[in-house]
Order: sequence, then C-alpha cells, then structure tokens
Amino acid sequence: MQNIAVRRGKPEDAHHFSELVTLTSPTMFPIVFGSTVKKIMKNLFPHKRHYYSFDRSFFAEVDGKVAGMAQLHKLTARKGQTVRLSLLLLKYLKWRLPTKAVNLLKFDHLIKFVSRKDCYLSNVSVYPEFRSFGIGTKLLATIEEEVKSIGKKRIVLHAETHNTRAISLYERLGYKIESKSPSLKIKNRLFESFKMSKSITS
Ligand SMILES: CC(C)(COP(=O)(O)OP(=O)(O)OC[C@H]1O[C@@H](n2cnc3c(N)ncnc32)[C@H](O)[C@@H]1OP(=O)(O)O)[C@@H](O)C(=O)NCCC(=O)NCCS
Repeated sequence: MQNIAVRRGKPEDAHHFSELVTLTSPTMFPIVFGSTVKKIMKNLFPHKRHYYSFDRSFFAEVDGKVAGMAQLHKLTARKGQTVRLSLLLLKYLKWRLPTKAVNLLKFDHLIKFVSRKDCYLSNVSVYPEFRSFGIGTKLLATIEEEVKSIGKKRIVLHAETHNTRAISLYERLGYKIESKSPSLKIKNRLFESFKMSKSITS
C-alpha cells in the first residue's frame, strides 16, 4: 500500500483509539476495565499526560481514513502519570473503581519494570481490513524515528505469548525476546507475556 501517512494523535481520535486499543487484547481489556471499556477509553484519551492519552499516540491513515495506531511512552514523570490516570479513572469509573483497582494495579505493574532510560511501546493496532499492507511496519518505523530524535537508545514492549502475528512482526523489525514477564492472574484467567526490546542506533 503506497499512501500510508503517520501523524500524531489528536483528542478527536478518541473513537478510533477506543476501538483500536481494545483490539490489542480483546480478552484482557474487558476483564480489567469492565464491559464499558470502550466508553472509558474514549473518555480517557482526550486528557493529557497519562498512559492512554492522545499525546502519546501516533495514527496511520490510508487515503485520509484511520487504519491503525501505536503509542510511545517516554517514561519521564511516571509517578505523576499514575496519579493522573487514577484520578481520571475515579472520575469515569466512580463506585466501580475499587473493584477494578486490584486488576489495574497488576496491569500497571508490568510497566514499572521498564527502565527510565528506555522508551515503552504499547497498543500497536491495525484495523483487520487494513492488516498485512505494511501499516504496522510504517507505524513502528515512525516510532523509531521519534525515539532517535529524543536521544533514547532502546524500545521496550510487552506482547502476549500467544500473539504470534505481532511477535513475528516485531522480530522481523529487529526486536528480540528478552524474558518472559511474570504471569498476570486476573479473574481466574492467566495472561502470559514476553518482554521484547530493540536497541536503536542513531
Ligand atoms: C500485529 C499488527 C499490528 C500487525 O499490523 P499489520 O499492519 O498487519 O503489519 P504489517 O502489514 O506491517 O506486517 C504484517 C505482515 O504483513 C506482511 N507485509 C508487510 N508489508 C506488506 C505488503 N506491502 N504487502 C503484503 N504483505 C505485507 C509482512 O510480511 C508481515 O508478515 P509477518 O508479520 O509474518 O512478517 C496487526 O495484526 C494487529 O493489529 N493485530 C491486532 C492487535 C495486536 O495484536 N497488537 C499487538 C499487541 S502486542
């Protein structure tokens, strides 16, 4: 596909974000955030400086239509980000937050082990009808350029162990499996993931 353009996310992309982010783990997201997960994601996205914000997002468009996205976290001011996200979740989940909090913390725990010296890549997602046209590849190339431009040397991500399609894309682009992350047990379901990384040379 020739005409793939990648641009930064805007608050108006909230609908696409909510659809695309839930495709990255269709089982885990509803378990962690509940059945209204898409609505919650749509509400969170327009706010700045937290894990699900538009300001960490890149969107790929084909002929002006959104086809996919990815998020890049520079891992600065991480403490403030958790507080901001918690307050937003309190706003949108209200009385449902306490029951979800334990699962949200488990989810957050994986990222705590990523060094501040690295960048963290998350939520790479392409709509099914646009897959296998090189959009994921283009998104990841843009992310690499961004990482280079801020002088960081490594990108880290987590991929569920069963997600062979995503893992083979990452491996093709030079990411290596570093380790198996601690399993997450959420509502009697076990989620297994690999920590993968790629060194970036300028
Ligand atoms: C994983 C995912 C993002 C890949 O996106 P994509 O746009 O299909 O990725 P690409 O097209 O760049 O590459 C995918 C395959 O298409 C092939 N491909 C790339 N460019 C191509 C082209 N121009 N023509 C034909 N095939 C092409 C590649 O060989 C690649 O195959 P490989 O992965 O076996 O090496 C997508 O499948 C997806 O959204 N999955 C669901 C969400 C998800 O699991 N996200 C990852 C969370 S860790």
